[in-house]
Amino acid sequence: MAFLRVREILKQADEKKTSVIAFNCIDYSTIYSVIAVAEELNKPAICMLYPEHAYGKNVINLAGFASTVKSLAERVSVPIGVHLDHSSDYSFIIEAIKSGFTSVMYDGAMLPLEENIANTRKVVETAHLLGADVEAELGYIGLAEKDLDTDAYTQPEIAARFVNETGVDSLAIAIGSAHGIYASTPHLDLQRLDEINAATEAFLVLHGGTGIPEDQLEAAFTRGINKLNVGTEYLRLWKSSMAKYTMDETCLPEEAPGKVQEQLMNYLRKKMQLTKM
Ligand code: 13P
Repeated sequence: MAFLRVREILKQADEKKTSVIAFNCIDYSTIYSVIAVAEELNKPAICMLYPEHAYGKNVINLAGFASTVKSLAERVSVPIGVHLDHSSDYSFIIEAIKSGFTSVMYDGAMLPLEENIANTRKVVETAHLLGADVEAELGYIGLAEKDLDTDAYTQPEIAARFVNETGVDSLAIAIGSAHGIYASTPHLDLQRLDEINAATEAFLVLHGGTGIPEDQLEAAFTRGINKLNVGTEYLRLWKSSMAKYTMDETCLPEEAPGKVQEQLMNYLRKKMQLTKM
């Protein structure tokens, strides 16, 4: 019985001055591999869904994703959470919670501050009533292939106000990371992280976990990051492994998912070592 609320997992990470790693998953193999390696290494983990994979692309549905994570989590002893990543759609977020997601992200980072506060507060009020945790974004975490805009980094005093006025459980902050493949090596603004961590009680989240050097991640974990999001490198490996084994004439169709899982698990064993939980 190790299906746990995300805020409980983040609390444990905070107490140990480290971070849990949350992986963007897309199907049974990606979910299964995260939970199997978490159990093997005796570390907590979080499986996240990008909203566009459940609508539009229809790769998986909300209830299917949440129940897969929950049923696999109940078979292991380590804490496992399920989280809806980056959604700006109130109705979709509520549908996700009703479908079994116990943690959601409302992303209003592109909106003017007052609107981001008002929308986030509305999501928090409903989510908390329904028993789910909320992550929000403040500042703007952009795309890694573009030049990072340091003006869009999270400001500590605004973070303090945002958390007080919205009641969010966790906050995704902009301190020099971005989504996707970095054009050049990122340099996290650790001084700013210290200031944000001192200014607010919310658990802090670092997005754009693909390609950040390990020494910077380790420093960020000890200085206040409690959740690291990793997507691109995990999903790219899933895709290349699928391509490899579906094209391999010696591999029976029904053997391909297991071979893909082996590749994913080797990657996850290395990545999850970063967390000291
Ligand atoms: P990457 O795709 O850069 O690893 O970032 C994932 C992420 O932050 C999801 O919210």
